Amino acid sequence: MSVFLDHASTTTLREESKAALLRALEETGNPSSVHSSGQLVRSILEDARDQIAKAINCNRSEVIFLSGGTEADNHAIKGIYWQQIAKDPNRNIIITAATEHHALLDPAIWLEANQGAKVHYLRVESDGMVNLNSLQEFLTENHRRVALISLMTVNNETGVITDIQKVSEIAKPFGIPVHSDAVAAFGHVPIDFASSGLAAMSISGHKVGAPIGIGALIVRRDMKPESLLHGGGQERALRSGTMNFASAAAFAAAATASLADMDSREEKLGKLRDELENKVLELIPEAIVTTKGANRVPHNAHLIFPNTQSDSLLFLLDQQGISVSSGSACQAGVLGPSHVLIGMGIEENLAKACIRVTLGHTTTAADIDAFIAAIGPAVSGAIKAQALQN
Ligand SMILES: Cc1ncc(COP(=O)(O)O)c(C=O)c1O
Repeated sequence: MSVFLDHASTTTLREESKAALLRALEETGNPSSVHSSGQLVRSILEDARDQIAKAINCNRSEVIFLSGGTEADNHAIKGIYWQQIAKDPNRNIIITAATEHHALLDPAIWLEANQGAKVHYLRVESDGMVNLNSLQEFLTENHRRVALISLMTVNNETGVITDIQKVSEIAKPFGIPVHSDAVAAFGHVPIDFASSGLAAMSISGHKVGAPIGIGALIVRRDMKPESLLHGGGQERALRSGTMNFASAAAFAAAATASLADMDSREEKLGKLRDELENKVLELIPEAIVTTKGANRVPHNAHLIFPNTQSDSLLFLLDQQGISVSSGSACQAGVLGPSHVLIGMGIEENLAKACIRVTLGHTTTAADIDAFIAAIGPAVSGAIKAQALQN
């Protein structure tokens, strides 16, 4: 038996996406070539761009295809920072939060270590919500020195939703560009780029049922971030390299399918998630639902089991055929507390004892039953393992 409850790390390939990929792979051509073969694959790419633009309500020219969320975040942070610093060398502050994904934090930290940037981290409450009053306060004092603001729409570990519209409203009077990593949001909550006030937004295909290795940075038309790559000048000269038209088609098909069933899926998954959390608390009253009460997505359960270690829990669940994670898959294998929970001010021994259970489009009630049957023995085993270590 194999039960996959780690859909935030990557979700099952959608049939529509696989079909679009296989269809596109039948064609030979480079989308930049002028001959008919090139034009044919260019039309596949441009159809995909139209579909992504429709899915998030942006202009088609604002969709820049690239390899995924990590690349999109790097382009956004470094590209906008370089654009801003070139206009005004005093604008060297990047505002973000310690609970962001490493794909966002690490480029900001790199700019600080190597390029004279300063990273300012906003206050995050113990339920994972970013304190937006602290943004307002900081900007009132320091807006002339701020290059950009970047806050994620949905946190990939806790599922907590940030009011990005409000972030844009706070930033607007100061004319500061706002980027949002919407990798964990796209396909799960409604996104409207045109009315968001954002300068840029990152999305990734494999989180909505496309293959791994395709994503997009949505870049407002008046923004001209400096490019990380130089070459053929494709994708508004923001992302040189032969365009991956087949993966773009697969991404567009997955995104369209994901949006078509978003409301009914999230409603169904919300009921399953609530059932899972309630049963866990009945079985293990010491367990903590980390973000209960916060505004969060319905398919995510983030749980802390005191006196355990995440890696023991993952191992003991995996032995029973259940795949979950302790947070971001990119951090898996790296021992230590979750940086997200530490950013929320949660004690280190609890931040080392968490698991993230994420449901997706293939999740069934039987998967939840299997998790419930496995969690008691896994927690008892992890408590024993922890006691032996102490
Ligand atoms: C919020 C968030 N941002 C960025 C990424 C990186 O995306 P990708 O795997 O497409 O590089 C992830 C992946 O886990 C994510 O959850």
